[in-house]
This record gives sequence, structure tokens and C-alpha cells, in this order.
Amino acid sequence: MCGIVGYVGKRDCADVLVAALSKLEYRGYDSAGIAVFVNNTIQTAKSQGRLEDLSKKMEQEGKPEGHVGIGHTRWATHGKPSDINSHPHRGGENVTIVHNGIIENYKQLKEMLIAEGRSFVSETDTEVVAQLLDYNYNGNPLETIAKTMAQVIGSFALGILFNDFPNRIYAVRRESPLIVGVGEDESFIASDVPAILKYTRQYYLLEHDEIAMLEEGSITFCNMQFRPIQKKLMTADWDMEAAEKQGYEHYMLKEIHEQPESIKRTVMPRIENGMPNLSECGITPESLRAFRNIYIVACGTAMHAGMVGKYVIEKLARVPVIVDIASEFRYRSPLIGESDLIIIISQSGETADSLAAMRLASERGAKTLAIVNAKGSSIAREADMLIYTHAGPEIAVASTKAYMVQISVMYLFAFELAYAKGKIDEAECRRLTALLLETPDRIAALLEQKEELKAMSEALVSAESLLYIGRGLDYALSMEGSLKLKEISYIHSEAYAAGELKHGTISLIDRDMPVIAVDTQPDLHKKTVSNIEEVKARGAKTLVICGESLIPSKEVADYFFAVPEIDALLMPMLAVVPLQLIAYYVSVMRGNDVDKPRNLAKSVTVE
Ligand code: M6R
Repeated sequence: MCGIVGYVGKRDCADVLVAALSKLEYRGYDSAGIAVFVNNTIQTAKSQGRLEDLSKKMEQEGKPEGHVGIGHTRWATHGKPSDINSHPHRGGENVTIVHNGIIENYKQLKEMLIAEGRSFVSETDTEVVAQLLDYNYNGNPLETIAKTMAQVIGSFALGILFNDFPNRIYAVRRESPLIVGVGEDESFIASDVPAILKYTRQYYLLEHDEIAMLEEGSITFCNMQFRPIQKKLMTADWDMEAAEKQGYEHYMLKEIHEQPESIKRTVMPRIENGMPNLSECGITPESLRAFRNIYIVACGTAMHAGMVGKYVIEKLARVPVIVDIASEFRYRSPLIGESDLIIIISQSGETADSLAAMRLASERGAKTLAIVNAKGSSIAREADMLIYTHAGPEIAVASTKAYMVQISVMYLFAFELAYAKGKIDEAECRRLTALLLETPDRIAALLEQKEELKAMSEALVSAESLLYIGRGLDYALSMEGSLKLKEISYIHSEAYAAGELKHGTISLIDRDMPVIAVDTQPDLHKKTVSNIEEVKARGAKTLVICGESLIPSKEVADYFFAVPEIDALLMPMLAVVPLQLIAYYVSVMRGNDVDKPRNLAKSVTVE
């Protein structure tokens, strides 16, 4: 959460910082600010609200003009969004910082600093670090940073300006991500690669407890004992264009349309002679045969991808799969051991709970497999085995193409596992793999029908609450459909296993509670239809997303959208598309900020 940037070079620093922050607003967008050295003095500009509010403020009041500075876009953790709580924060006379992450012992440190006669203006944990840096300052920035790092607990990244060194930026990280971008005669710090792509594709990854010092013409790295570190220069494999809207009204719509290509990029390189082959990711048939249980641990949409994985793996490979929410898994003393495999799914690769869950499983001797989209992220680097999904940059907070590639990897994995275990023969493995390869074209065709879904979405715009229902894989899909809708439309919604409704929840049903039913599984069709009839009989408006051969009668469905069929097992790859589009259109019709829904951030790096 929160995005930090920094710039040292010849350009107008404020302009660079704002441009870079605009690519990090997905990390938080309740306030923004910059600090720039102007004639050797630090000037700050900050504002509650979006980055555009900061820009407007600077247009009216003047922007700090200089060539060295830091910037921040905030997702509030300590203290409400306000001008005062916005970053950058000053510590006394010597230090100004931007911060991403959480300082867990900020209360103790604050008490200590207050006892030393210091006072605070904000409610943030960030100001505590700024004041502590100032308190520790001895004229030597590296010694000051190292001493401060020894006192703070938590996961965070900092960009630091020292008043005495107006040509420099210092940066340090513990857990939270930070990169150092390298341009011609200029350098950058940023929480994520898209921030610097306008200027350069080359960057270094700052590691845990490393310090970077940037000044014109030089970048140096050292550890907490001040020993210099040589780092490998990396090159981002996607460019600015991939991170732009390219004519779409919203990133979310663009990303929904990118799904066919994302699947191709992710799946095709892992297929050899018509069979799945994940050996390049460290997965071999022998290793697969050795696992007793599989745990899939993730958060939000990534966890929902794991739910699809559970059904598919259990059905094909006959291995028990436990899907867990990462924030629950890590605190419930899970029964995992050396013969278990834990699969962590994450788009960002930085989700705090997922990372912690993976570390816990690793400590207990389980093998870890990460399915991650962001290259070089913490989860990707720490896992025993790694499958990168190649969705490209996902900017919209609501995840769509990342989910799609996550489930496509779940299928590949399930096919390979089932074959390795002798639960499906080669012909069946080839058949399923070939069908998976058909999904990009089928999704592209489905997207042509989006106007139908737009029309159907109108039926939901004024709803205050609704339910998604389904059975089996359709239940797993309902969970994702429901989350997508609620996070961007702000309509309350829940996903229910259709057969479970009559055990309590059906009492909520009346004419004001629409129900979206997902009905794509022929073997469950009759049961699902009975459940739809039950809600219809109680007055609910019903919208059904069904397989082409499962079209409901008028008595059952007020609206339906038929998805061309593929093997029932693979239907989630197709049927999720109408669910994504319904959420998108409802959000647009309600006038919401689709890509930046309230209270959310793309990358959840705090617990
Ligand atoms: O980066 P991750 O995949 O680990 O993120 C997990 C969730 O925070 C994320 O999927 C979230 O639920 C999305 N906003 C849903 O659209």
C-alpha cells in the first residue's frame, strides 16, 4: 500500500514525481505529496485526495522547482486521509521522508521521542520514523539510517532527504518493495516498475535491509554494516504502452480485453508436444507424485482462483486440496508438514498475508510453489518453485486478467498432476490441454457480445443488495463474480452455494434482492435450476449465466446470458467474462471510479 517515488536528474523534478506517482495510484489514492530541494531548501506540496488534487493545488500555489525530490501517494493506515497526515513528513530540521508500509513499534518509539521533548503534528507512523531519523542524525546519513533501522520493527520502504545533502536521495527497504531506476544522467526510486517506464526500463531491485544512495551520475548500494553491494541491472519486459489505457475508457475494460493474449503468453510456453510441461518452473512428475496434501493460500481474487483450482485438481488428480485465506491460514497453526505442497497465488507477489503464509509453510518444511504475476516480487523470489503468469501490468484495482491467468495455470498444473499420478491417461491430458488452448479465441468471441451484458446490467444498477449462487465450479465462480461487483459498484453482494440458501439466507429474498445464478455444469443443472426457482418463487429478479445447452425457461430466468460451451471443467475460463463485464457496467452506470474504487488499493502490503 502507498506508492513512493524519488528523482535525481536534470528534469523538472515535480513533473517527474507527479508523472511517476500517476502510475502508482493503484497502490493508494487518498492523498499525495512531494518534497523537492529548491535552492538547497526542501519545499513540500501535499494534499488530501487524488493526485490531480495535488496537481491543481500546485497550479494555484506554485510547484517546488528543483531537480532532486521524493513523492508519495497514500493509502491511509495510521490516521485518516488529510493534508496533515499526507506524506512527505518532516523530522525536525534535518530529515524529510516518504514511507510505504507499517512501523509496528511506532507507539513505543513515539513515547520515547515525546519523553525526549519532541512533538508530533500528524497521526502517522511515518512521522515517528522521520523524527527518529532526525533524533539519530549525526551528520552521517548512512550511520543515521542504519541506527534507525535497528530500532524500527515492521515492513516498510523509505525515501529520505537529508537537508545537509541537497543533491541526494537515500532509500532503504525492509520487506516492502522498492526499485532504483537508472536513466541517462538521472535516477529514480519507486515502489513499482510502471512508475519509471516513461523514463527508463532499467532498474535495480533493492533487497531487504539494503540502503541506496542516489546522486547525479552515481547510484551506490550498501548493507547495514556499510559494506558496498554490487547489484544486477534488470530490464522491465513490458513498456509504457502496456501500462496505458490505449483508447479504452477504463483500465479494467482494457484488461478484460487483454485476457486472450494473457492466456496465450502464460499457457503456450508451458506446453510441449501437446502436453503440459512445467519443468522449467521446477515442477517434475516425480516431485508431484510425492505430495500428500495441497494447500492453496491467497487473498481476494487470487484465493478465488485457488477455489477453481481446488475443484479441478480434486476432480482430475484425486488429491485433497485445502484452500485458505492467507490471513486465516497464518494464524491458525495449520497442519502442514514436509510432505505437503503449498501453492501461493498472488498478482502483486507482495501481499503481506500471502507472503507471511508462505514463510510459515516453509518453516514447517512444506514445499512452496508461487503463482505470481509481478516479476522479481518478494513471493516470487522466496518460493521453492515459481510459475510466472504473464498477464502484463494490471492497473485496475479490480483484478480480471490476473485471475484469468491464475486459473489457466491451475488447469495446467491439475492436468500435469493428474497425468503424473496416473489419474488421467495421455489422450485425456492432451484433450484437456488442447481445449485450454482454445479458450483465448472463445473469450475473444464472447467479448464481442458485451453489449448484451451491458443491457442486462441495467437491471442491477439500483439494487442495494444481491446474491450470487452456483454449485461446484459455479459456486467458485460466483465468489469471484460477487467480489468483483461489490468492490467496484459498492452494492452489497454475497456468493452462496446454491444448495445452502434454504438453510437461512433465503429469508433475505424479496423483490428487491436480485439473484445472479451461475449454471454452467450440466451434471448440477437440475439442482441449480431448482434453487433458482426457489428464489424466483419468493419474488427475486433472476439473472442467469448459463451454458448454451442449459438455457433457462422464462419462468426461471428474467434475464439470461448463454456462454458457448466447452468441457464443463473448463467453463470457468469462459463464464467469468460475463461476470466481470456485469460488474464493470454496473460500476460505470453508477458513476463510480471503476479503476480506483473507494477504500481499496491494488497491492495490500499491510496485514
Ligand atoms: O496481489 P494479490 O493477488 O496477492 O492480491 C490479492 C487481493 O488483494 C486482490 O486479488 C483483490 O482481492 C482484488 N482487488 C480483487 O479484485
